[in-house]
Amino acid sequence: MAPSLQYLAWVPVTAIIAASPAVDAPWIVMKFGGTSVASLPCWENILELMESRRREGARVLVVVSALTGTTDALRQLSKCTDRDERVAAVAAIARRHRELLGSMQLEEPAELATLLADLARLAEAGWAEHDARAYQAQVQAHGELLSSTLGAAFLNRRGLRTRWLDAREYLGATVLPNQNARTRMLSATVAVKPDPALAARVAALGEAFITQGFIARDPQGRTVLLGRGGSDTSAACFGALLGAQRVEIWTDVAGMFTANPRQVPGARLLQRLDYEEAQEIASTGAKVLHPHCLQPLREPRVPLLIKDTNRPELEGTVIGPEVRAHAPSVKAISARKGITLVSMESVGMWQQVGFLADVFAHFKTHGLSVDLIGSAETNVTVSLDPTENLLDSDAIAALAADLAKVCRVKVIAPCAAITLVGRGIRSLLHTLSAVLAEFGHLRVHLISQSSNNLNLTFVVDEDVVDTLLPRLHDLLIAAGSLRTDDNALFGPSWQSLYGAGPHGADGEAMAAPAWWQGPARGRLLALGEAATPRYVYHLPTVLERARALQALRAVDRWHYAVKANTHPAILGALAAAGFAFECVSPGESRAVDAAVPATAPLLFTPNFAARADYAFALGTRATITLDALHALEHWGELFRDREIILRVDLGRGLGHHEKVRTGGDASKFGLPLEQLPAFLQLAQVHGVRVAGLHAHLGSGILDPGHWGEVYAQLASLAERIGSVSVLNIGGGLGVPAHPGERGLDLGELDRVLGEVKDAYPQYRLWMEPGRYLVADAGVLLARVTQLKAKGGYQYLGLDTGMNSLIRPALYEAWHQIVNLSRLHQPATTLYQVVGPICESGDILGTDRRLPAAQEGDVMLIAQAGAYGKVMASRYNLRDEADEIVIE
Ligand code: LLP
Repeated sequence: MAPSLQYLAWVPVTAIIAASPAVDAPWIVMKFGGTSVASLPCWENILELMESRRREGARVLVVVSALTGTTDALRQLSKCTDRDERVAAVAAIARRHRELLGSMQLEEPAELATLLADLARLAEAGWAEHDARAYQAQVQAHGELLSSTLGAAFLNRRGLRTRWLDAREYLGATVLPNQNARTRMLSATVAVKPDPALAARVAALGEAFITQGFIARDPQGRTVLLGRGGSDTSAACFGALLGAQRVEIWTDVAGMFTANPRQVPGARLLQRLDYEEAQEIASTGAKVLHPHCLQPLREPRVPLLIKDTNRPELEGTVIGPEVRAHAPSVKAISARKGITLVSMESVGMWQQVGFLADVFAHFKTHGLSVDLIGSAETNVTVSLDPTENLLDSDAIAALAADLAKVCRVKVIAPCAAITLVGRGIRSLLHTLSAVLAEFGHLRVHLISQSSNNLNLTFVVDEDVVDTLLPRLHDLLIAAGSLRTDDNALFGPSWQSLYGAGPHGADGEAMAAPAWWQGPARGRLLALGEAATPRYVYHLPTVLERARALQALRAVDRWHYAVKANTHPAILGALAAAGFAFECVSPGESRAVDAAVPATAPLLFTPNFAARADYAFALGTRATITLDALHALEHWGELFRDREIILRVDLGRGLGHHEKVRTGGDASKFGLPLEQLPAFLQLAQVHGVRVAGLHAHLGSGILDPGHWGEVYAQLASLAERIGSVSVLNIGGGLGVPAHPGERGLDLGELDRVLGEVKDAYPQYRLWMEPGRYLVADAGVLLARVTQLKAKGGYQYLGLDTGMNSLIRPALYEAWHQIVNLSRLHQPATTLYQVVGPICESGDILGTDRRLPAAQEGDVMLIAQAGAYGKVMASRYNLRDEADEIVIE
């Protein structure tokens, strides 16, 4: 079981020291890395943390690394052939430790003097009399021996009776058959099992202990090293050996993130992971934890915590045997660079017995371990990972030469492996279409789906990774594959914890609290208690969005696409704010007429409308947009001597869902460009003037570059037509739906549009957004009708569903759902939020972590101001939601 969070609360040290823990008190193992032991404040911090764990009634074992930089200095020393240099290096190391002692106002303890003298002797002697590797291990071990000795002196001086343990007495290295002499000595493996007798023996010695990371003893009694990241492994081994309540890894970051924060500042803290997922993330790129260190903890089910030494109040990452139900989610996206691919081609090889055995024998001979494998009838491609292999060009060339004897070889490098990690990744494939589309633009050399159903890896050229990763991270969030809304799993973003404030350099907008989270909440609750279902619209939010758009200098006229929400109060407010309007039917046109002054300009942009609709619109002040030949071919006289706008299809569509992409061959919208000459000829025949060009590629777009492209394409078309004075680049401006998803950067949009405008100043620029103005301004209120547990799911039933809000059923759209009656209660239950309609698709939200609900609770479905009420139906003859406006 994961430890309860109150354990992790940061308790400042006080004078109260707990009574001695009982003999059977639980163990807590805490590991501090090199930067966390390098100064007096670091050690004061360690002391405080140890005291706080003792107050929990635990025995504490602290595992330390060498002072930062010391291991590197010792490694160099241990390979240096010059005696004087070695001696000078030891003097520098001794000085460093004595300075730290001085700052602690400590006399040099005899044990430290002995260690330094021992190290000096080793430096004098060099490895002439030793085996070179044994010498390296012996020299390097001194880093941890020194830091732990120094730490013990400090802790005891400060009144915490701390016993120094020699880690080598407890951690014995095992010899594995695939290890060579080097790895046995310098990258040794320790296999441990809980040993209650040993734990009891150590417990009898005291309550607080300090020992070394990174070192162990081999069966011959020699000192060996555990390899890179070895101190984490030591802590884990001690945790397993002692059957600890938990192991805490104290480092310089709060834990594991959904991506490398250096590449993706919006990466979210992963608050909970199971061992396998964490292992997968660690092995596929994350540096915060060494992948080897989880293995010892799995069987005894000891949880591991990653904590930030400088920010102990942060929850960190808890890794354990996961027991709580979670929404299936991609947990992280990681990238490993420096991958080499070896592609082996051989006709008909698949049927040849032993072909693979022959091929892999060569990898073995060259000491190269294979990571990913892809195979086809005539080709096998494998990847070599630099963290597991010494991939110098000589090694690869030698391998290629040998392989050339059995097949045709091609080496592809440098590549990068991009991995999506998440338990049950196969069940998430259907959500990954946008991610797969992104890979579709690239050269993908290899795709591999791990047989443990934990990862999906794409090998691409290395140079694309830095720009690709942030984009993929955004796409995963937008598609709901990375469930950042589940706040039991996903913590704050790196940017918000460590970055440059709420609006960081990467443009990640820390979403301001929505209007309904503020003082309006009481009013909403009262409205919901009075009647549901009901839509509530917040006019100040609409007007704030309107002003934000009007600040764009490049756009000459804004039209509100009324299809998003036709409430008269919204139409009136936008007209007063200076907006024009875009309608697609006589009904919309009449709704606008009823609500706004007759001076507001109108666009009429229907699709496959009847002749009568055009006849109607021609009798209004609206400018009409045509998007097919039919109208001019058959009803040309209707349009004689009129100015129209022509909607073209630019051959591609965009948008949050396939059903809202309105361009390309598969969409019914727009005149295909090859029919342009025919259209212009028909226009001429009927005296129709093409005064404008229009394109709208889809809805819910967050990439500002898109409108620049459309604008430039229309402008260059317009130059060929001659009569055009207006370019309407449509609507489609998206709003971020999932927490952490980045919003549309309006500044960037203005910049992009401004560039095109500078090139084509002769055209007026129009836009016609709907969603952007109203989506966040509206919420749907509904009440809980029934609760049900079935098939492992908890269902929360509402008094309305797809009849009021069809977007989740139609587009798998994600709307935040909150229990307004219990807004501040802990979210403990994973619900499927459903409506009362007789369809299995009547689901408003899947896997929503919410407070345990009760019949009658008022629930709020957010971001329902656009395409909510306007798309509602009376299906099942249920009453429609009414609409309330908050001024
Ligand atoms: N202009 C034209 C020609 C359109 O077809 C649309 C939307 C817009 C402007 C306004 O698009 P907006 O800025 O609102 O994205 N029911 C879907 C959206 C369908 C949009 C249809 N056309 C949804 O709920 O996501």
